[in-house]
Amino acid sequence: MKALIAYLSYSGNTKETAEMVADYLSADGAVTDMHRIGIDPPVDASAYDLIFIGTFTWEMGATPDEVKEFVLEVGYKPANVAVFGTGDTQFGGDELYCLAVDKLVTFYQSRWDGLKIEQSPRGSQEFMVKNWLEGVLHDVKSLT
Ligand SMILES: Cc1cc2nc3c(=O)[nH]c(=O)nc-3n(C[C@H](O)[C@H](O)[C@H](O)COP(=O)(O)O)c2cc1C
Repeated sequence: MKALIAYLSYSGNTKETAEMVADYLSADGAVTDMHRIGIDPPVDASAYDLIFIGTFTWEMGATPDEVKEFVLEVGYKPANVAVFGTGDTQFGGDELYCLAVDKLVTFYQSRWDGLKIEQSPRGSQEFMVKNWLEGVLHDVKSLT
């Protein structure tokens, strides 16, 4: 299985989550390519069995512009998009928490709930990353 992990991170939380996702997928035998949104040259999304998009949430629940540009750059809605992200409940509480994740899940009609991590995924939230990925991989394997 070939997976793309495209992510945007300013202060490192989403990057850490992306790296955890990559480590887990590699341990499961997948070939993974990291794509730093806004930095790396455009990728051919159609070359991947599974596409992960990772984003933080910005002012008042916004999706960062770089992520919107990435969505346009991909140019179509791949079927197998799974979304993860980081946020902070201190910015507007539950309603705005990781709202960019929900927006991308809706946009891509993702078959998986988005994974939402509060700040750094290290420590007590690591199990959430693992459980979520187990669910995604289970579905992908049963489809192929
Ligand atoms: C100006 C500003 C606005 C933010 N607004 C939100 C928000 O509306 N919802 C949310 O969940 N997190 C919000 N956050 C928190 C970030 O999404 C969170 O710190 C995230 O982990 C940063 O990701 P990064 O470390 O990958 O850059 C905001 C942070 C800043 C600095």
